[in-house]
Amino acid sequence: MQRTFEASNKLHVGIIMDGNGRWAQQRGLPRVAGHKVGVEAVRRVVEAAPKHDIGTLTLYAFSSDNWKRPAPEVSALFRLLLVYLNRETRRCVENGVRLSAIGRRDRLTPNVRTALERTEAATATGSQLHVRIALDYSGRDAILEAATRLRADESVTRESFAQELGRVMNPNGDAPDVDLVIRSGGEQRLSDFLLWECAYAELHFTRRMWPDFGDADLAEALEFFRGRERRFGAVHAAAGPMPESGESRLVA
Ligand code: IPE
Ligand code: IPE
Ligand code: MG
Repeated sequence: MQRTFEASNKLHVGIIMDGNGRWAQQRGLPRVAGHKVGVEAVRRVVEAAPKHDIGTLTLYAFSSDNWKRPAPEVSALFRLLLVYLNRETRRCVENGVRLSAIGRRDRLTPNVRTALERTEAATATGSQLHVRIALDYSGRDAILEAATRLRADESVTRESFAQELGRVMNPNGDAPDVDLVIRSGGEQRLSDFLLWECAYAELHFTRRMWPDFGDADLAEALEFFRGRERRFGAVHAAAGPMPESGESRLVA
């Protein structure tokens, strides 16, 4: 299995930060108000992640399908991203947080691209936590693009495919397996998030809307994760010995 976070035993957690719009609507506020408060939740989880043994945190901020939203909402989301990058870069450097983006960059405005590159360069040596922001990201498109690039190569393996997939999403990246996916907002779907990397991820869904998400919710998700038995298709040792050959039978 591909290990996460530069071969350490730390976890790779992916978060589908959903529910901003409903959080705002429930309060009679415009959807954008939910996105704004949602940024505070991002700050909280980034700060809390290292103490939960998380080495890589991939945050789904904007899916390729989110371009279908009204232009003013899309603009507001990118404005908030710029504010976040400008405000948080220094704090990331101080806290040893490496911040990078995965996803397409060619459809981002030059100022967003430049801000991302600046943050990535400034935080490149951070070794406490790697925060990956998934931006204009589509798991399906990433897989298609990697498959296209490898089309003529007859010796594609899972490992070489994962490497290519990583390069599709970020020229310097890889595509580490996800250990745990958390989705706030009550929906129970992946919405095109890290489809390849989530092959054996544990899935935790919470009704908490993203702007209200905090350390206690992260702790609850990690507690759920630690209670899972991860078998990766094998049989757990405690299941006992295999039946003698000839004895094998299906058990109802
Ligand atoms: C998640 O919240 C943020 C983004 C998708 C950018 P939503 O905006 O999807 O909030 P809901 O699901 O409509 O409540
Ligand atoms: C997924 O949420 C994308 C992000 C959280 C960035 P959506 O709100 O876009 O997903 P659907 O439309 O409910 O599946
Ligand atoms: Mg949503």
